Order: sequence, then C-alpha cells, then structure tokens
Amino acid sequence: EASDLLRGALLGLSKSDLVRTTIEKAPVSRDVVARYVPGTTVADAVQATAELRATNRLATLDYLGEDTTERAQAEHTRDTYVALLDALARADLSQYAAAEVSLKLSALGQYLPKDGDAIALGLAREICTAAERAGTTVTLDMEDHTTTDRTLAVLHELRADFPWVGAVVQSYLKRTLGDCRDLAVAGSRVRLCKGAYKEPASVAYQDKADVDLSYVRCLKVLMAGEGHPMVASHDPRLIEIAQALAAHHERTPETYEFQMLYGIRPDEQKRIADRGAQMRVYIPFGDEWYGYLMRRMAERPANTMFFMRSLITK
Ligand code: FDA
Repeated sequence: EASDLLRGALLGLSKSDLVRTTIEKAPVSRDVVARYVPGTTVADAVQATAELRATNRLATLDYLGEDTTERAQAEHTRDTYVALLDALARADLSQYAAAEVSLKLSALGQYLPKDGDAIALGLAREICTAAERAGTTVTLDMEDHTTTDRTLAVLHELRADFPWVGAVVQSYLKRTLGDCRDLAVAGSRVRLCKGAYKEPASVAYQDKADVDLSYVRCLKVLMAGEGHPMVASHDPRLIEIAQALAAHHERTPETYEFQMLYGIRPDEQKRIADRGAQMRVYIPFGDEWYGYLMRRMAERPANTMFFMRSLITK
C-alpha cells in the first residue's frame, strides 16, 4: 500500500544525517515543528506544562535527543533534565507527579562503545534522584527492538531504588504480551503504545490490524493486573476499549491514565481530562526534533504532505 511505502521511507529518512541537516536548516519548517514541539529551552518546556495544567492535563517532558555517541552530550542531557526538574519544582508543577519526565537511554549514552549501559544507568539514576526531590516520577521510553532487553534490565535496576520508574511497552512487538504479564504487578507504571520504529517481521506485527489486536490483548492484562496502566494512544477505538476495561475492573481514575502527544488531538485531550480521567501529555522540547518529527510524519501521511509543501513553497 502507498501509505506503507511512505511510512517505511520516512522511518528510513529519520536516520539520515543529510536530510536531517537540510531540514533543520530550513527556517520555514519551524511553523510545522512548533505544532509538535513547543520550544527548545527548559523555560519553553515549563511554560508549555503550565498551559496544559491550566486545563487539568498532566505532563511528561522529553528533552529531545537520541543515539548519542559522545559522553559529553549524554552528560549535557542529564544536566538539562536536572535543571528542568528543579525548574518544574520551583514553578510548583511537579508535585504528585503532575509533571514528570520521559527519558531515552540512547540519549544518555546507551550506545557508547565502552560501558554504554552502565553509563546510561548512572546518568538515569541522577535524574531519578532529581525527580524524587521534585516530588515526581520518571518513565523510560522504549526505542527499537534491539534495545528492549537492555532497557528492561536498566528499568529493573532503577526500580530497586526508585520503584516508581515507569516502563514502556510496544504492542507491535510479538514479545510484548509476555512483558505485560511480567510488568502488571503492584506499583508498576506501564505505558502501552503501538510502537514507532521500523521493525522486521521476525519480531513485529506488520499489519495495523494485528498491532491493534495485540494492543487490546496487552490492555486486558494491564487493566486486570495490579499495576498502573498508562494508555498511550490517539486511537479512539482503543481509548474506548481501555475505558470499558477500566470500568469492568472497577478501577478508580487515579489507578490508570491516558496519554497523548503534544499537539495531537488536543480537544480530545481536554475532553478526557474534563470527564475526570487522568490525561497526561508528552511534551518534547529541544533542538534535536528531527527524528521525533519524522516518526510523527510516518504516522500521518497527510501531515507529511503539509510539511513537505511548507519546505518547498515558502
Ligand atoms: P495510530 O497512529 O494508528 O493512529 C490511530 C488514530 O489516532 C488515527 O486513525 C486517528 O484517528 C488518530 N490520530 C493519530 N494521529 C493523529 C494526528 N496527528 N491528528 C489527529 N488524529 C490522529 N513509541 C515508542 O516506540 N516508544 C515510546 O517510548 C513511545 N512513547 C510514547 C508516549 C506517548 C505519551 C504516546 C502518545 C506515544 C508514544 N509512542 C512511543 C508513539 C506510539 O508508539 C505511536 O507511534 C503513536 O502514538 C501513534 O500511534 P497511535 O496509537 O496514536 O495510533
């Protein structure tokens, strides 16, 4: 199908340095970027959080960056998260996890040639300490399937000291139902998403319908379990199913939450929050928006055409 081709091409481009530099330098693309990424600085991130809080939405903040190959860059990422958490606390936005942070281990040095996992774990620990001080939590984003086991291992280590660290699982991976069973235990925060990377058929469902069916199977396990499910999707059908399952298991609103990305279905975000359910918005900020934005484009061919046109015609 044409849209599958486009999706594959965009996910391929998300790893291209040449296209990245061209697009990052195009000043016109800022308008389109701003819909999904509210700004580049900690101050921008704090302001976007305050605006969401005004309509009763919760936040999780992501300092953009991935696939770091230099230790100094990984340390800079740690510093930015610590500064962000301190700023959120000063603005009274972080208590009771009203605003938390999401981390990518690859931005914290997971791919460094020597001791990558240990370096990422050490830096993540420092961020967890800052989060604890700010009265909030941390969630470990999940990246491509070659890192799943390593990321779950780091999660396990972190949870020994910080039991509130959240996990992410991706329903497109065939292994994920088993991971949900392991993770659906008391106190365990688990974000369920469909998955955003290009993955081979050996490990991942390729058909959208199969990814959705897997999502429902995983939801059933998480909602029936003892943990705190975080339903990360913009898909109206899956949100409805999640609500029905929560009601079936007599879950109260504070025992689970919905999550969506900044700039996507904002009216629906507000409606869900107004109903009294917890709605958390994932806010990315920083200069390194290229990979993030290309994954969003791959999900919505219509947006891609809009974006490409803005590059050419302005
Ligand atoms: P999908 O893309 O299939 O869209 C389903 C429906 O949602 C559409 O048919 C439409 O109705 C609506 N919709 C979607 N996009 C829209 C738009 N732009 N405008 C209007 N309507 C739209 N991935 C990952 O691999 N690792 C991770 O750690 C995370 N973390 C994460 C956190 C949070 C809070 C979210 C919401 C998502 C992630 N993801 C992620 C991304 C996730 O895996 C997935 O790629 C996107 O959420 C898109 O999938 P949907 O579930 O929205 O469905």
